[in-house]
Amino acid sequence: MLPESQTVLHTWCRQGDWNAPTVVGGRGAHLLTADGRAILDMSSLAECSNLGHQHPDLIAALRAQAGELCFVTSAWGAGPRAQLAQDLLERSGFEGGRVFFTLGGADGNEHAVKFARQAAGKPRGWIITRDRSYHGASYAAMALSGDSRTSSQADAASYRVRHVPPPYAYRCPFGTTSPEACAGAAAGSVAEAIDQEGAAEVAAVLMEPNAGTNGIVAPPDYWPALRRLTRDRRVFLIADEVMSGFGRCGEWFAWQRYGRENRPDLMTLAKGLTGAHAPLGAVVVAPEVARALEQETLMTGLTYSGHPLSCAAGVAALRAYATGGLIERSRDLGRQMYERLLELKKRQPLIGDVRGGDGLFAVVELVRDRATRAPLAPWPQMHPKLQELLREALRADVSFAARGNLILLAPPLVITPEDLARALALLERLLSRLAATLDAEVPA
Ligand SMILES: Cc1ncc(COP(=O)(O)O)c(C=O)c1O
Repeated sequence: MLPESQTVLHTWCRQGDWNAPTVVGGRGAHLLTADGRAILDMSSLAECSNLGHQHPDLIAALRAQAGELCFVTSAWGAGPRAQLAQDLLERSGFEGGRVFFTLGGADGNEHAVKFARQAAGKPRGWIITRDRSYHGASYAAMALSGDSRTSSQADAASYRVRHVPPPYAYRCPFGTTSPEACAGAAAGSVAEAIDQEGAAEVAAVLMEPNAGTNGIVAPPDYWPALRRLTRDRRVFLIADEVMSGFGRCGEWFAWQRYGRENRPDLMTLAKGLTGAHAPLGAVVVAPEVARALEQETLMTGLTYSGHPLSCAAGVAALRAYATGGLIERSRDLGRQMYERLLELKKRQPLIGDVRGGDGLFAVVELVRDRATRAPLAPWPQMHPKLQELLREALRADVSFAARGNLILLAPPLVITPEDLARALALLERLLSRLAATLDAEVPA
């Protein structure tokens, strides 16, 4: 067999650079490689393997479903599809709503936009999203995203998408100096964008309520402010919970921290929905949206929408989160991880900011100078020494994820406290070494 590096196009990397170990199995928070290593996964791969790798209940559910029925299109009914839709509506407080199944997050967001526009009777209504966001890599999802990697590929305005600045309190685009003020100013800019376009022309505001791959964690006042201002203006609010859902932020869905009254009108899911044991995404719509769509024909289709194998994995995943107490576990371990990182920040001046910690998700932002907040490398570049840190960690059998100056910590919710402590101790050692080599670079 030819090596994969010669036959496969790989995501998010220069093709000639791809040189990763082959994974042949998994166990809990560890990936098992072809050369016999057990690598501790501190990012749940793409922040998706919330249940850990090869969860036995998921494997059993997939086996059972494969023996019964692998596939039928959504022109026909399928038991696991109906069950998963009901479970999701009940879990999320969207009872009376409906679920549309997609294959992942990007097509989930595209369909959420489609349904919001159709339900609002605004077929080309504007969608407000923010800079430093990520909603997927298909064309409309790139237009929705405020992501430096893909922004040149899709002209947002031609998709009727308008971006506003993010609630990035550490480097507030509005020049404020507190998280509350930054959240207020950022929410204000959403209201302003709607008012400028005219509320009748705006279909929805689409935002990540908490965790995101661009490392923004909105201050707590932001989401309730978005809910208020969209409700006042009769514009739908869509939560992209693709990354933040299923315990990642200490709740089933991140918006739930703000209570029922702050429920969005639509919510998109993927990743943790099956704990990545099978590809699946979903758009969950509130009863009001479902009612508006009831007499409408949905001009859309995905051959694999509501695939029975994936839905069976989803049903088993929801059960596994509940029976394993994994949402609460994420909240508890997430708090410990966050406190540990704050301690680390006291000792390590290379750390400018630590955010997150509502569940097992935290962002560590590295700076060259804490007083001036000068970034380690200009965004979105990654300093070569940080790349070396990641390679060094992998040599010690721990896999960390990083973007630019950000280390994103998002281990599987099943990680043991001992493994978590070991990974954080390694991170501290490697950051100290990185700081020492940077100091040595300063000319005498
Ligand atoms: C918040 C968010 N939305 C959407 C997506 C896209 O999901 P997918 O890769 O399944 O298309 C991602 C993926 O990282 C994400 O983090």
